[in-house]
Amino acid sequence: MNLLVTGGAGFAGSNFIRYILRKYPNYRIFNLDKLTYAGNLDNLKDIEGNANYKFIKGDIVDQRMVFKICRNNKIDAILNYAAETHVDRSILDPADFVKTDVIGTYNILEAVKEFKLQKFVQISTDEVYGSLTKGQFTEESPFLPNSPYSASKAGADLLCRSYVKTYKLPVVVTHSCNFYGPYQYPEKMIPLFVTNLMEGKKVPLYGKGENTREWIYVLDHCRAIDFLLHKGVNGEVYNIGTGVEKKNIQITQIFLAELGLDKKMIEFVKDRPGHDWRYAVNSNKLKKLGWSPEYDFDDAMRETIRWYQKNEWWWKKLKSGEYLKYYKKQYGL
Ligand code: NAD
Ligand code: DAU
Repeated sequence: MNLLVTGGAGFAGSNFIRYILRKYPNYRIFNLDKLTYAGNLDNLKDIEGNANYKFIKGDIVDQRMVFKICRNNKIDAILNYAAETHVDRSILDPADFVKTDVIGTYNILEAVKEFKLQKFVQISTDEVYGSLTKGQFTEESPFLPNSPYSASKAGADLLCRSYVKTYKLPVVVTHSCNFYGPYQYPEKMIPLFVTNLMEGKKVPLYGKGENTREWIYVLDHCRAIDFLLHKGVNGEVYNIGTGVEKKNIQITQIFLAELGLDKKMIEFVKDRPGHDWRYAVNSNKLKKLGWSPEYDFDDAMRETIRWYQKNEWWWKKLKSGEYLKYYKKQYGL
């Protein structure tokens, strides 16, 4: 199979490319990535010489580029990981979110139609459903996004729905809970907190740290996307979750305990505007199809902490330059 992975130089996309190249020695992967601040070829250093892998620098907002890649490489399927993904950045400056997440996805849908591709997997998020106090989101829950990020993703997912209904395209949309694991850009809570603590810096916990997220190890997410690429029913939407819910303060306490640090390292800061209280997805539809998570939360989170401890070369340089400009804006410094 010839796969086009967009956004493959980011956190989840790079883990997916490595996973697929190991599992399917005959598959060829084309990685189209704009290399924004979040795109990083260091994430794929170990596979850059693989004969079945090719990196192409480019933008999914450029339709001609997407078409050219599909035409020249006999692409069978597209997996769209490319997006602007950080909620806080979307609050500071939404423009790129609308361009990449909505128009970029539209361009991919047009390519799937034009080249009659076998499958398109749109990697989306549980955030499109909004926020919960109790219960779980199902695939039938209404879209009630609360940030420019989640609204842009919701817009893209609705375009996918319309291309299924109108043009009968072979699209599968996924709504996943939060990922954690190696190679996550250190602006997101998990890598930010672990690396801050390693540097002797405090962790900025929003509000009272009571907001809750459901967590999936990134390799379990790779397994789910691989499963849906091959077994997902065209036109269907699938939630991806584990049932593992944690308050942000609980995650922080895990880090403090693992690193032998005191709660004095927590700094409670101003809350995120429109901060979603809780996400939790019902994944029974995906489980009935035959997928379930394999990684234990405690073990995989410990592995993740170890990875950041062992790979300072990877994150130290990221916490400078462009990152610092964002960090200063975010915290009004
Ligand atoms: P990331 O921010 O780490 O990586 C995004 C990648 O997309 C980067 O490599 C970036 O360079 C690339 N990109 C951005 N704009 C582009 C454009 N216009 N053209 C081509 N490439 C572009 O993101 P991530 O956390 O790995 O998330 C990947 C996908 O998974 C996103 O679609 C996101 O919405 C979804 N998702 C993420 C999570 C999570 O917890 N991280 C959870 C659910 C869903
Ligand atoms: O639910 C899936 C989504 O998860 C994805 O679609 C997004 O791309 C991804 O970024 C993530 O969004 P969150 O907002 O949940 O992730 P983030 O790591 O930014 O924040 C996790 C929680 O931690 C959230 O409640 C906000 C809080 N937080 C975050 C940061 C960056 C803090 O308390 N302090 C911080 O500095």
